[in-house]
Amino acid sequence: MKETHLEQLSDLHAAAEPREITPPMIFAELRRGVLGQDAALRYAAVGVYKHTTGKVPGNLLLIGNSGTGKTTIMNNIQRLYHEVEAYRPFRAMTIINANLLVDPDRLEFRPERLLAVVEQRARAVLGGTATAEDLKETMERATICIDEIDKMSAVVAGKPNPLGVVLQQGLLTLMEGESVALRAHVLVDGVEQERTLDISTAGMMFICGGAFEGLYDQVYYRVTTPGSGEKLKSTAIRTADGQVRIELRFALADYFRLEDLFIYGMVPQFIARFDNVVILGDLGIDVLREILLNSYDSPFVRSRRFFEIMGIELTIDDLAASLVAEQAEASSRTGARALRGVFGRIINPFEFDVGSGELEKLGDGRARFTITAPLVRQALNL
Ligand SMILES: Nc1ncnc2c1ncn2[C@@H]1O[C@H](COP(=O)(O)OP(=O)(O)O)[C@@H](O)[C@H]1O
Ligand SMILES: [Mg+2]
Repeated sequence: MKETHLEQLSDLHAAAEPREITPPMIFAELRRGVLGQDAALRYAAVGVYKHTTGKVPGNLLLIGNSGTGKTTIMNNIQRLYHEVEAYRPFRAMTIINANLLVDPDRLEFRPERLLAVVEQRARAVLGGTATAEDLKETMERATICIDEIDKMSAVVAGKPNPLGVVLQQGLLTLMEGESVALRAHVLVDGVEQERTLDISTAGMMFICGGAFEGLYDQVYYRVTTPGSGEKLKSTAIRTADGQVRIELRFALADYFRLEDLFIYGMVPQFIARFDNVVILGDLGIDVLREILLNSYDSPFVRSRRFFEIMGIELTIDDLAASLVAEQAEASSRTGARALRGVFGRIINPFEFDVGSGELEKLGDGRARFTITAPLVRQALNL
């Protein structure tokens, strides 16, 4: 076990083959872009390790409210594949919405739509015109992310949803490993020709994600029904101005069982194809604050890059950042997405006219603009 993250990261880039890139190394790298979801990232790291070493499937089902990081995890796995040389053969990764894989009129599963996207990705990775072997190999190692899988439940709004059953059954066959015929233009002896390739899905990694909204209420109801034998846990919450209050908190991960998914409308044989079902927790104030200040894609970091163009250094006070995080957390069920709206209301007037703010001169024409707690309170009417 290596001492520091930095050592692990450098090992990652020096690795000659995926076998040398251990789950802790993968975890450390994913964690640079995904905050506050360590439990989920450990499963994701093991899944990537299994997939890239090729012996067992590492399929994952990610369950989490909107804005908790499902797509962010998928994007970071993609980043990992692209930045690490040893992962070159695994770079064909696609994110596709579940409803695109079924034809609602004919009630049919359409795997060729998935394969078409995977082919496109594989070609982009290979560049130029590929040989049949290269194309087949790259496609067969693909990672396939399927979003909004929860919309393909067997029951939607209390009514049977046959389309969902069709999708789940089709996907489960793919995940078990199927051979799908693909007509493709490939290089044969240096000449482009049309060929039929048999693409096996056995070595692909499937990551499905969804918010599973009703699942929260469903499990909450089960847990809080008298005689369930379970009890809600209480936690201490610290507010931005240092006070502590005790709240009864319901975290799905604490109570979830696989059977809850069957009741929700997921086909048991489909769920059985996943190596792990991973629950992403709602993000607390501290994590939201960290995302605001440090994640590459955060609205604050984006604004800072924007002000940089005008020679202005944008900073934010500790308390101001905590207030933003607290307001984002209060707007439930949009998770880290809420940061954008909350922060936007504060910064938009100044992005429009920076002269309307108080600028501190720094010399050689540069200036600093600080977002303070009073400014946040005023913008948000707190
Ligand atoms: N755990 C997280 N760590 C870092 N950023 C996050 C996290 N969760 C969400 N975000 C940020 O919030 C936004 C929405 O997150 P996303 O992953 O798309 O949510 P969803 O779970 O709905 O797919 C993105 O801009 C992302 O950068
Ligand atoms: Mg998403």
